[in-house]
Amino acid sequence: MDSSGSIVTLFAPIQRLMSVASHLHSRRFKVVVCRNLGPDVMSILEARPELDLVVWPQDSACERSWLMENISGATGVIVMLTDKVNAELLDKAGPSLKVVSTMSVGYEHIDLKEAAQRGLKVGYTPDVLTDAVADLSVMLALMAGRNGGTGVDLWATFSWAPFGLCGPQLSTTATSPTRKIGFLGFGRIAQATLARLVPFGITHCLYSSNPSSLPNHARDAALAKQHKLQAVSKVDIDELSRESDVLFVLAPGGGETYHIVNETLLRKMKRTSILVNASRGTLVDSDALAKALREGWIWGAGLDVVEGEPNVTIDHPLVKEPRCVIVPHIASATLETRLEMATRATQNLIGAILGWEMPSQVNLSHVS
Ligand code: DGY
Repeated sequence: MDSSGSIVTLFAPIQRLMSVASHLHSRRFKVVVCRNLGPDVMSILEARPELDLVVWPQDSACERSWLMENISGATGVIVMLTDKVNAELLDKAGPSLKVVSTMSVGYEHIDLKEAAQRGLKVGYTPDVLTDAVADLSVMLALMAGRNGGTGVDLWATFSWAPFGLCGPQLSTTATSPTRKIGFLGFGRIAQATLARLVPFGITHCLYSSNPSSLPNHARDAALAKQHKLQAVSKVDIDELSRESDVLFVLAPGGGETYHIVNETLLRKMKRTSILVNASRGTLVDSDALAKALREGWIWGAGLDVVEGEPNVTIDHPLVKEPRCVIVPHIASATLETRLEMATRATQNLIGAILGWEMPSQVNLSHVS
């Protein structure tokens, strides 16, 4: 109690607290959304009275000029993997920006160093797309092995023949009882892909991952036991290329993995092997892969991603290869998964702005 002892003075701290709370409540935050996320998810954002939404109005990738014009003064932004978040954009956003939330598990399009230097939070969408991407990876392996890229116009020139359009079988057979599946990158999606391949009778799993990560023998032994495989082993890239019947590329993009699948690697692969890439186009040297397919160093390729996408036209060297099956970056494109990804991106954004937990936050502590 102060010297006056008045009731007004007694309640002053409470009044101050109430005023801060009401100030916080009345604060509004500008949020830029680079793509309409559909009625189910947009309604989550629209229901938040604290948010002033600015949404890219078209059903196409957000134009850079629009984003640059609208980002100033934003507290948060929801981006797609097609939106580059670099110093230029972050400078334009200014000091109000607190969070960048991407509707993707990959975040190569976000300059993490710049984000860390500015103290930003970065949200992403792991886990929810694991199954969808693993499903599509298996689909690509099957399609690439079994001439699935040949279109229906084929009937004009093709008649059934005993060995016409044959390809290597994914399942083991009595005469071919061993199948070695390789993974470049052995995270959640690779392990989910492995689980899907078990019923095909695969016998060995080989993988190469970040050279700085130590082998995890206990985990590998447990996986081998669980899936009744002869071995789950971490090997070097050389052995991975030589031994894999199907090689799945499921590692993050970025400078460290740029063109990791190159002419040297492809030349080591078996002539009957299949390459699948469902990670980022930059991991595979397209010209080297086209040459490998043309000259028969490997049997086929299944690609969800191609370097330089979306500029992949019919005169692209890989599109011209009949044993190259290409789909346009749709690995996570199931109705269920995209809804979960959009919801997660939204929860990450709202969490960061309102001071709640972000369900999936990129760890920037190691980024310098
Ligand atoms: C992602 O979210 O990063 C994937 O590329 C989607 O397929």
